[in-house]
Amino acid sequence: MPITIQKLTDTIGAEIGGVDLTRPVDDETVNVLKSALDDYSVLVFRDQAFDNDSQIAFSQRFGALENMLYKKEGDGGTPISNITNVDMDTNEIFPPGHHRLTGNSGNEMWHTDSSFKPVPAYCSMLSGREVPPEGADTQFATCRAAYESLPESEQRQLDGLVAEHNYAYSRSKVKGYSPPAEAIAQVPPVQHAVVRTNPGNGRKNYYTGAHASHIIGWPLEKGRHLLEELVVRATRPEFVYAHQWQPLDFVIWDNRCVLHRATAFDSAKYRRVMRRTTVAGIGPTVSETGEALAVA
Ligand code: SIN
Repeated sequence: MPITIQKLTDTIGAEIGGVDLTRPVDDETVNVLKSALDDYSVLVFRDQAFDNDSQIAFSQRFGALENMLYKKEGDGGTPISNITNVDMDTNEIFPPGHHRLTGNSGNEMWHTDSSFKPVPAYCSMLSGREVPPEGADTQFATCRAAYESLPESEQRQLDGLVAEHNYAYSRSKVKGYSPPAEAIAQVPPVQHAVVRTNPGNGRKNYYTGAHASHIIGWPLEKGRHLLEELVVRATRPEFVYAHQWQPLDFVIWDNRCVLHRATAFDSAKYRRVMRRTTVAGIGPTVSETGEALAVA
């Protein structure tokens, strides 16, 4: 069956049909999907009955997988993250206020995965194993269309800027949550170019989100304000696709140019079991001397 590609909005997202990703996929299919990801930034697939092994096997076709920052309960020591309100040992929903629920709530800030790492993520892949019948959408915002909507003079002002991204900073915004010290120790602050260019199609976007703390060489508040303004622009309704999950949906997004966030649901009533794999990027976004790289 040929692969079908159906645009989801004018600015972001496409639904892909005609492919079963749980079985080995050939190189041609992988190339079509990578190119679609370059073009549409978010790819939605229905009815992908992954288990952890088949999700890891498919994800590795896009590149090396990131390891989880630290081993959370239920991650099983694999490069697959368990984003859930269900205790995998007891199969019961976590009680309200459980630290895993508080930790999950950090995902409700607009962010891009692993921007706190020296080599930030290329793409993430999220599999909906059990999804609530209402709520819990994942929203995606395109920083490419948002960048392109800026007047040229403002685009030029962003060129060459470098921002500090800091996991400790983003977690400090999550009420009632203190991440394990070993997680913080693994990820000291890093620097990233504010403007990135997709190596496949040459299109530019800006790069910000919850982990982005400030602009290097600027007064802290001025840089923070700019980075937040960029998030506000990217999350205007015309730049957002909200994915309403059905069981066995599988979504891939391009972390280089997309912000995303989880949204609330009745986590005392409904089970939500999601598995995420994250494909590592291919290199840093700044040079060894701290200058923004032209293509990153
Ligand atoms: C994530 O932020 O990676 C997960 C989003 C979600 O759980 O909807």
